[in-house]
Amino acid sequence: MAVKDVPDARIEKATDVLVRVTSTNICGSDLHMYEGRTDVEEGKVLGHENLGEVIEVGPAVDRVKVGDQVCLPFNIACGFCKNCERGFTGFCLTVNPGFAGGAYGYASMGPYSGGQAELLRVPYGDFNCLRLPPDAIEKQNDYVMLADIWPTGYHATELAQVEPGDSVVVWGAGPVGLMAAYSAQLRGASKVMLVDHQPDRLALGESIGAIPVDQSAVDAVEAVLGLTGGEGADKGCECVGWQAHDPAGQERPNTTMNSLVQSVRATGAIGVVGVFVPQDPGGPDELSKDGRIAFDMGLFFQKGLRMGSGQANVKRYNRQLRDLIAAGKAKPSFLVSHELTLDQAAEAYERFDRREDGWTKVVLHP
Ligand SMILES: NC(=O)c1ccc[n+]([C@@H]2O[C@H](COP(=O)([O-])OP(=O)(O)OC[C@H]3O[C@@H](n4cnc5c(N)ncnc54)[C@H](O)[C@@H]3O)[C@@H](O)[C@H]2O)c1
Ligand SMILES: [Zn+2]
Ligand SMILES: [Zn+2]
Repeated sequence: MAVKDVPDARIEKATDVLVRVTSTNICGSDLHMYEGRTDVEEGKVLGHENLGEVIEVGPAVDRVKVGDQVCLPFNIACGFCKNCERGFTGFCLTVNPGFAGGAYGYASMGPYSGGQAELLRVPYGDFNCLRLPPDAIEKQNDYVMLADIWPTGYHATELAQVEPGDSVVVWGAGPVGLMAAYSAQLRGASKVMLVDHQPDRLALGESIGAIPVDQSAVDAVEAVLGLTGGEGADKGCECVGWQAHDPAGQERPNTTMNSLVQSVRATGAIGVVGVFVPQDPGGPDELSKDGRIAFDMGLFFQKGLRMGSGQANVKRYNRQLRDLIAAGKAKPSFLVSHELTLDQAAEAYERFDRREDGWTKVVLHP
């Protein structure tokens, strides 16, 4: 990771918008690339959690104006394909031919540069820009969470069909897991349990009302069963992904999925937003190299569980979640631990990647 001068992003198509980035987050998803676990090309400008000011619009842009403060969903979507039309903007069929889904600055997600930069080109600007209210600058640490992790955490609860009164277990207390726990509370969960082995992240979860389960100290499945009268949680969220590991750091790609099958009650539902990949040459075992895990299918079937998975369709939720911030009813910036400049990005990657104590979420202000 290095900060370099590169050619400025510019308007390339009539439907583009050019944004001067003022906030751009480092994401746990960026770490998959940082750790060399994807085929991302050298020199790619990363950054898919972006917010800033519109400084130029292409001639075919009608709605978005120069001067607007906007937050950009990490998904780049056209708005007119079969998937976009049905709201599945995480699986756009036209922006990244041969693949369902495009994003800024990400491996396999198309030729788009990211926003960990001064300028960002936003394709289909009218469709992709979420315009922000007058308190946009003052609350930018809140609004920038609408680019990815809050809608993604919310998506986990949507896939798991969390309803008022449900007990919910969330595996992973990174930013995504914390946002899933936060969203579950907003949806009226009666009890939210959060599993991880990082004490600082668990403490943050506790501060928003989740029950921390430290899997370095206890058997997490037993703990969840104990907290739910032996039945298991009504709903479960996977917010770790295939690089799941034990507290000692040994990667075990199937642990979170099987733990969810064991700790969600019969007839419950599981939402999987932690990333799993179809190939991982650096995987810890033969199965995972081909994107497979040994999954407890028998128990999953016996319990009649349901499961949904995939990239979050950010546009499906970002407008409503924005309005909760604007109304003062949500404050997702509780996650932010570090606000740094672009020049400090390389060091920030290194320290966030080590999950150093207190490094929960980094916002860069170019
Ligand atoms: N589906 C989407 O649209 C989408 C969007 C953003 C991020 N993601 C993915 O979500 C996942 C989490 O993202 P993040 O930013 O929170 O990442 P992160 O790496 O900061 O957090 C992951 C957390 O999981 C914990 N963990 C690791 N193994 C565990 C285990 N076996 N049991 C319990 N906890 C364990 C880690 O200690 C860490 O706190 C990543 O896979 C990321 O790529 C998906
Ligand atoms: Zn992200
Ligand atoms: Zn589309």
